[in-house]
Amino acid sequence: MQEQYRQVAGWIRDAKKIVVVTGAGLSTAAGIPDFQSSTGYYDAHEDKHYSGPDVLSKWFFQQKPEDFYRYAKEKLFHPEARPTAGHRFLAGLAADKDVIQLTQNIDDLLEQAGAEKVVHLHGRLNRTYCPVCSSMGRTVYLAPDDVLEDRNGILRHVYQLTFTDAEYHIVRPDIVLYGEELDPLVYFEAVRACEEADLLLVAGTALGVYPVADLVKSFTHGVGKHSVYLNLTEPPGDFYFNAVLLGYIDELVLKLEKEKGRLS
Ligand code: OAD
Repeated sequence: MQEQYRQVAGWIRDAKKIVVVTGAGLSTAAGIPDFQSSTGYYDAHEDKHYSGPDVLSKWFFQQKPEDFYRYAKEKLFHPEARPTAGHRFLAGLAADKDVIQLTQNIDDLLEQAGAEKVVHLHGRLNRTYCPVCSSMGRTVYLAPDDVLEDRNGILRHVYQLTFTDAEYHIVRPDIVLYGEELDPLVYFEAVRACEEADLLLVAGTALGVYPVADLVKSFTHGVGKHSVYLNLTEPPGDFYFNAVLLGYIDELVLKLEKEKGRLS
């Protein structure tokens, strides 16, 4: 077992370019639940339960923006969360390497840990914008607190006056909802990063969401490249990694850190 950590530490040392793909499991230790553990949203008016993915859909946001923000505020938005060992380890790789972080996470914990090249494949929850104004060539980003803070018991501030005095538009979170495509420029950047890297570290993702899972799968077929999966549970059966390290990320990276220290 220790042998495997040493091998991965060696790949990290020898890699010229590293691409890191992360998911919700990276941030659970910081107090942000992953999607598999999400309890979803119960609508008392309809006596209906919506799953996490239901709420994070384009349809739900269009139909029920106020409920969406209520859910986002209660379940998704964690301004108090701070990076843990996993974030610090991954961010710290860039001290002596060319590293790009492709994250599915909508938090900013990698940035807080000092990571510079972070591509948010599914966007970021810490900002919102008005789609109508953006389509007119003017993007107005609002601080999430302006949207999420509940005043007078209702989410009136969901409807922000953003462009003309005459119209109120619904601002939306800067995240990719189910039923929407990834931003093609962002996806292209991720594809290029995977093509150029010789080591892939995948951490805290069930690899159940596409096209991110496809990026990972293509990489693992690359010749002369290494791929490593760090997660609590096994990867899906059709993914073939050179090394699979199972356990809590914060504990796995401590072991890797130790082996890195021994190698240097
Ligand atoms: P998931 O919740 O699907 O998977 C998280 C994975 O992390 C699971 O395999 C857990 O076993 C594992 N895990 C949880 N805590 C861990 C820990 N401390 N250490 C190690 N592993 C841990 O989350 P994602 O794969 O990120 O999309 O989900 C991908 C996308 O689905 C999300 O970005 C989101 C979601 O719907 C959108 O919002 C568009």
